[in-house]
Amino acid sequence: MDKLIIEGGVKLSGEVTVSGAKNAALPILAATLLTDDACIIKGVPDLRDTSTMQKILRSLGKTAEYDSGNCMISSAKGTNHFADYKLVSTMRASFCVLGPLLGKLKKAKVSLPGGCVIGARPVDLHLKGLRALSADITIEGGYVIAKADKLCGARIYLGGAFGSSVLATDNVMMAAVLASGRTVIECAACEPEVADLAEFLIKMGAKIKGHGTPAIEIEGVKHLHGASHTIIPDRIEAGTLMLAALITEGDVLIKNILFQHQGGLLDKLEEAGASITKVDSSMRLRCAKKLKPVNITTFPYPGFPTDMQAQIMSLMSVTPGISVITEKVYPDRFMHVSELNRMGAHIQKEGPYAIVEGVRELSGAPVMASDLRASACLVLAGLAATGKTSISRIYHLERGYENMEAKLEKLGARVWREKE
Ligand code: EPZ
Repeated sequence: MDKLIIEGGVKLSGEVTVSGAKNAALPILAATLLTDDACIIKGVPDLRDTSTMQKILRSLGKTAEYDSGNCMISSAKGTNHFADYKLVSTMRASFCVLGPLLGKLKKAKVSLPGGCVIGARPVDLHLKGLRALSADITIEGGYVIAKADKLCGARIYLGGAFGSSVLATDNVMMAAVLASGRTVIECAACEPEVADLAEFLIKMGAKIKGHGTPAIEIEGVKHLHGASHTIIPDRIEAGTLMLAALITEGDVLIKNILFQHQGGLLDKLEEAGASITKVDSSMRLRCAKKLKPVNITTFPYPGFPTDMQAQIMSLMSVTPGISVITEKVYPDRFMHVSELNRMGAHIQKEGPYAIVEGVRELSGAPVMASDLRASACLVLAGLAATGKTSISRIYHLERGYENMEAKLEKLGARVWREKE
């Protein structure tokens, strides 16, 4: 396994381009199961997770070829309905093949996803929604077994204890598009990635309205055809790059951003005093003066994204003053706290709260990545720290950030790999 070494202290400068959104690409690739026709998905980031999803599609009878961001998917032979534990257990998002398999084949056998370090990750809302569409769902031997003589549209409330669910909304939408009659999903996830999936489904012939709002209306159709689609930019990668510019007190132009997806984060960065200039579909980030601490509470979109919580904690770790970070989506998503404290941060975790007392500087240290966004948080801390930081288990970073080292190096960062 590799580890990433960062020699901190460089003020990043230059231009960097955001890749396609991982969390849009994964459900959209799964949605190609809804047709036997060929589909072309463009702007797919080259990641562990996107290649895992292609492996899953192949195991389900699809052909999947990837060439410089474009994914060509077609049906080699009849789609089979069994998504094996070996593949599904490596990536939670693979659970979103359940909805399209049920929609297309009226049967599916998909391994229950494991939990992970950020939380239990239950799937009760997925199953509630599919049962509401008249599917018969049982759990046997760690697998969800779903079947339906016929899927019937329904009005479904999909809110849970933590609000809306992104992949549950995706799964239910992908089953409902081929159900008979009308489905209304209430308390639907409003994330841009859910809306992007809906846009792809509409190109395939689905009838969907209200995507991107808490009420999504779907008129079932009999058949979906192939389509071509370009994935939206990754708002979480964009946010991570913004924080890389700020934590190093640099001056960076970030290209390929949809500003309307960055509301929650930009509001907080402006409150902290960051200099943000919007230029066409690019954004220039500078740290004109010392930032002020801000309090953060994560919420489902359009709230402050939980996927940016670890990264902004790094920035607040070196911002003088006290900031309180409240995690309302995954209350246990704080594995990065102990690693930041190893680098000299002063962070105290109290239940779903982290109290961050900004320090003058962090010092490089050997640290361990525990999940995708925690690895990004440690990269940011390493960029700002004095001395060398070595981040082990860097495969977590590769799951969700395309060529992150090369992008940082191009901005002047001193970053390289070594064998563990
Ligand atoms: C998606 O996961 C993202 N993954 C996550 O990004 C992201 O953190 C999460 O949404 C929240 O924005 C992908 O899109 C592939 P949820 P998802 O269902 O859909 C609870 C990353 O770093 N819940 O919206 O699995 C759940 O426990 C990843 O890119 C239930 O209670 O998340 C959580 O507290 C990490 N029952 C909350 O809802 C359910 O049936 C939101 O989870 C489903 C979820």
